[in-house]
Amino acid sequence: MPFSKDFLWGGATAANQCEGGYNLGGRGLANVDVVPHGKDRFPIITGEMKHLDFDDQHFYPAKEAIDMYHHWKEDLAMFAEMGFKTYRMSLAWTRIFPKGDETEPNEEGLAFYEEIFKECQRLGIEPLVTITHFDCPIHLIKEYGGWRNRKMVDFYENLARTIFTRFKGLVHYWLTFNEINMLLHAPFMGAGLVFEEGENKEQAKYLAAHHELLASAIATKIGHEIDPENKIGCMLAAGEYYPFDCHPDNVLEAQQQNHDNLFFIDVQSRGKYPNYLLKRLEREGIELPIQEGDLEILAENTVDFVSFSYYSSRVAKVSDGDADKSAGNIFESVTNPYLEASEWGWQIDPQGLRITMNSVWDRYQKPLFVVENGLGAVDTPDEDGYVADDYRIAYMAAHIEEMKKAVELDGVELLGYTSWGCIDLVSAGTGEMSKRYGFIYVDRDDFGKGSLKRTPKKSFAWYKKVIATNGEDL
Ligand code: BG6
Repeated sequence: MPFSKDFLWGGATAANQCEGGYNLGGRGLANVDVVPHGKDRFPIITGEMKHLDFDDQHFYPAKEAIDMYHHWKEDLAMFAEMGFKTYRMSLAWTRIFPKGDETEPNEEGLAFYEEIFKECQRLGIEPLVTITHFDCPIHLIKEYGGWRNRKMVDFYENLARTIFTRFKGLVHYWLTFNEINMLLHAPFMGAGLVFEEGENKEQAKYLAAHHELLASAIATKIGHEIDPENKIGCMLAAGEYYPFDCHPDNVLEAQQQNHDNLFFIDVQSRGKYPNYLLKRLEREGIELPIQEGDLEILAENTVDFVSFSYYSSRVAKVSDGDADKSAGNIFESVTNPYLEASEWGWQIDPQGLRITMNSVWDRYQKPLFVVENGLGAVDTPDEDGYVADDYRIAYMAAHIEEMKKAVELDGVELLGYTSWGCIDLVSAGTGEMSKRYGFIYVDRDDFGKGSLKRTPKKSFAWYKKVIATNGEDL
């Protein structure tokens, strides 16, 4: 049997994409609340367009999302019915610190999550908690400029200390930042950055990167001090870059693009900035805001495990200006002619998961955790609301099969697998509801209409069987 008996099967969500209740329980406003559906979404998430409040011209899907704020018990019961051993979720920072810079937390927010964790415990589900998933209080953006400001490290430290203390014994698995490398591609989501006119954007991103890496190491330190049982991981938006062909230029290009993604994890897992990054930043005249003591903190507080999302591999080609491009997780890549694509143009490469797992394992030699993987597709329910999503089952079965090979044939150490969007939720990239990932259909459309009723899809029973047989029966 490739997977250990305590393998953590489950599913993953993020507060901003499912919780809703944006103004309830004393919650403050966050960056993700004000990101609308529609054509302005992309310039906003990339920090090119300043949009820090609601207006009448846009629809804001995160405000209500799938209203997990009121449905969480019912949703957890369905996850338990599928046999989940773990549930990956994130905390809304603004439920706990509505503005972000308070010294005292909002009790109502803490109590909300405590109830969820207690219910998880009752159901035998181990929570896997992402401290921040594309989430930053709007007040910290308006007042401090987001993560380009070092004060963010203190605010995050306060958040981390508060939650590690309060949820001690209820939560043992933590991720500090969702897809930390996404900061370079979606800086408003990843770091609360909105670029000023004429600002050196690359410089701003690397200021934010150092601050997040430092905050992550400090949180890892505190988490271990408060409860030595805590397992704290980093989280990479993964997907190996393949060279377009064997031309050495393209092989080198692929290596460099992999470096750009991996340097964050190099720091979090190995405890130091890699030379390839330092040399490049030096050439480009970009400075890291390293202060005395920072490097020691990074070195002494590395993560316990390396988690990642995997949707597709990517392709690198020098001077790819005229190459065919395919859509992908926030950023596009050169099209791989050997692969099919989803309805949203994301290429499908199950073997790429095995390849990626091997690369990450070879590099860090720390246990891995696949914390996101899945197919965003249009689902058409029948008159009873039932979706026969065989395409999703086929996608997941193929990926789990390759994940199994990585464990069984290659000896990669793997803690668990949480599929993305185990219940339909708002898409991070597009803001749509119609890009569905779930085993559970949620009746809600792209503009917030629908009863919010939950209905198991065909994949619900399939995943239940996968978990029951510990991945044997796909
Ligand atoms: C990852 C994110 O980038 O991909 C999730 O961590 C996101 O938040 C997921 O939802 C899928 O992307 P999308 O754009 O289809 O929602």
